[in-house]
Order: sequence, then structure tokens, then C-alpha cells
Amino acid sequence: MARAASETWKIAVLTSGHGRGSNLLALHQAFARHNWPLRISFATASGATAPVVRLCAELHIPCHILNPRCQEAFEARLLELCREGRIDLIALAGFMKLLSSAFLDQAGIPVLNIHPALLPQYGGAGMYGLRVHEAVFAAEERFSGATVHLVDPLYDHGKIIAQEKVDISDCPSPEAIAARVLEAEHQIYAPAILSYLSQKFR
Ligand code: GRF
Repeated sequence: MARAASETWKIAVLTSGHGRGSNLLALHQAFARHNWPLRISFATASGATAPVVRLCAELHIPCHILNPRCQEAFEARLLELCREGRIDLIALAGFMKLLSSAFLDQAGIPVLNIHPALLPQYGGAGMYGLRVHEAVFAAEERFSGATVHLVDPLYDHGKIIAQEKVDISDCPSPEAIAARVLEAEHQIYAPAILSYLSQKFR
């Protein structure tokens, strides 16, 4: 599909209750810095006290508090918001819950996630946050990295869109690995979104 030069792809970013929002910030900054035809139309957070709520206020990004524990209500409201906002792509950034296949079908737009490891290794249920880096550290891996993938109804399972490998051989702790991998996350997510949408709608 051809795209007029003035059009901007609209992105919704889903985060969790404890989300720092560093990936959301990196996306926002990259879109603006490169003047890419992408903008974050809204974010979601699962609680009003999540740090990402304040971050969104500072960035003037609408942030909806939606609790994903009640999956049916969460998905119904998210679907409404995506339709009202004519959202082109959903980007998960620290969002911990699965999305149902019914939601993914009805939304009819790509949903991407970023994971702090080289999938398919170190992904799946229970592999989130520091646990990922603890497992990588315990296995004495020399490399870890960040992966952007399409979301399906399984954890960390969909097609891989982009991956960045980082040397962690001198990292003395899981925390040090996490910090190094996070830098890679911030580098790859925005270009992966641009490249995915550009190819899809070329
Ligand atoms: C990131 O490490 C991301 O890979 C994972 O959750 C974390 C979110 O961090 N899915 P932040 O809130 O974007 O800083």
C-alpha cells in the first residue's frame, strides 16, 4: 500500500505496572530525532503509580490506566482505543501479560514486543526482568542481546523482526548484563518498527 508523505503511523505503547518506560522514551526520542513518520498516540499503564504515567505526562503522551488482570475488559477497551485512534501498530514495552488470539485477530494490526535476550533462547513464561539476565549469567554466556518480535498468543514466541547481539563476557553480574542489553534495546526498537511498517505498507 502506498503512503502519502504527510501521513504518520500511529503507535500505541503498552507497559506494565512497574514500567520505567525507558523503551517508550527511547521510541519517542528516536521518532522525533530522525523525523520519522511515527508517533506514539497513547500508552497504557496498569496502575496510576507506575513511573511511566509521569513520564507520559512530561512527554505529553496520553496514558490510559488499564488493568490487564481482567483480560476481557482490558482487551475490549484497548480495542476501542486502537480503533478510535486509528492505531497502525501496538508496541509492547515491558507489558507482562499475554494477548488473546481473539484480540490479535480483531485488532488486525501488527503487535511487536521487545525482549531482553537473544530469542528463542531465554524467553517464555517466567522469563522477564532480571530473571532473564540471571539465567544468562548463570549459563556463563559470552553474548546476550535484544530481540524485537511479532506477538502471538504465546510468550516471546512470534516471528523475529530484529535482533542485536551484545558482548557481555566482561559483565560481572546480571545487573550489568541488564544495563548493557537495555542500551541495545533502545537502539533497535524504533528502527525495527519503522522498517516493519515500511515493508508492510510499501
Ligand atoms: C525491557 O527490558 C523490555 O525488554 C522488557 O521489559 C523491559 C521494559 O523496560 N520487555 P522499560 O520499562 O522500557 O524501561
